[in-house]
Amino acid sequence: MLELKNVTKSFNLTGVKEDLRVALDHINLQIESGEFVTIIGGNGSGKSTTMNIITGVVKPDEGQVLLNNVDITKMDEHQRASWFGHVFQDPMMGTSGDMSVLENLEIAYRRGRRHSPFAWGFKKENKKEFIKELQRFGLGLEDRLNQKVGVMSGGQRQALTLLMATLRNKPTHKVVKRDYIRFSEKDHKVAEREFDEVYIPALREYKNEVKDIKKDAKLNRKERKQAKLEAYERFDKKVRKFDLTKQILLLDEHTAALDPKTAKKVLELTDKIVKENEMTTLMITHNMKDAITYGNRLIMFHMGHIIYDVKGEEKQKLTVEDLLKKFDEADQKAEQQ
Ligand SMILES: Nc1ncnc2c1ncn2[C@@H]1O[C@H](COP(=O)(O)OP(=O)(O)OP(=O)(O)O)[C@@H](O)[C@H]1O
Ligand SMILES: [Mg+2]
Repeated sequence: MLELKNVTKSFNLTGVKEDLRVALDHINLQIESGEFVTIIGGNGSGKSTTMNIITGVVKPDEGQVLLNNVDITKMDEHQRASWFGHVFQDPMMGTSGDMSVLENLEIAYRRGRRHSPFAWGFKKENKKEFIKELQRFGLGLEDRLNQKVGVMSGGQRQALTLLMATLRNKPTHKVVKRDYIRFSEKDHKVAEREFDEVYIPALREYKNEVKDIKKDAKLNRKERKQAKLEAYERFDKKVRKFDLTKQILLLDEHTAALDPKTAKKVLELTDKIVKENEMTTLMITHNMKDAITYGNRLIMFHMGHIIYDVKGEEKQKLTVEDLLKKFDEADQKAEQQ
């Protein structure tokens, strides 16, 4: 669970006390694992600041950020990086223009898996996996693996960024263990033992399987590789269940710079990736229809406050008119004050 407790943030550009602008005013927000939350609100209402406080780019003046009940407010951006994938409006931001599609993907992939036995070898398998993922975008990226990302369209770059943001969120087993001990509600010693009781035999079993595969004369080279990969995946799956801090995706108007058709495609893909990986997701959008269609919860920001928070069936029944009415009411209320 991700939680903001009484978070307040003001910005002061001029140094003059009177120019202090309150971006967030005592925000309280609890997001359960697996929730897909859409976020709407006028310009300057505090949406991006909220995300930046979650990732640690911005530090709150007051209040706390908690991840699975652990206070992470003081942790810097880099310490938190493996828990969050952040995609911005600007297609130039998430990818490296000087590098090819494949190089960008390799980097994102390695970021989370440095210690896996497949991180440095098995490039062909990686490549096949990437091609499969890219084909789903329907943007022709799979045929341009070696092309520099800098020459690609905004939609293509943004699709790639999305894929990279979700790839990165697979930490190594060592990190899974560290985080499990840290974020589990159990006593640290108990948590460590619990992890080891699964991990150590699973690793032994995996190593034995690999030995047997190597000895198996019936297998050809390709089959042997495939069998090894499958054995690893079985082992990996056992460890993943300890991944408490998995995959929180933060999308900040990530389709706003794309043409309507491409935006739709990228959004649909977002939804698919989120569902398949059961990712906890926050998505900022100015498109009310999308905010209603996607996700299972909707939050409305207004001048640094959360003024509406709706879930499930009630959200499903919302119309764009309902949301516009809410905005009008909030504006009128603010004017009266
Ligand atoms: N780094 C910063 N320095 C100064 N002021 C900032 C900074 N970041 C945000 N603000 C101010 O904080 C307020 C909230 O900004 P924020 O970017 O969170 O709004 P937003 O809801 O994301 O708006 P938009 O829909 O325009 O993206 C605004 O008044 C903005 O000018
Ligand atoms: Mg913003």
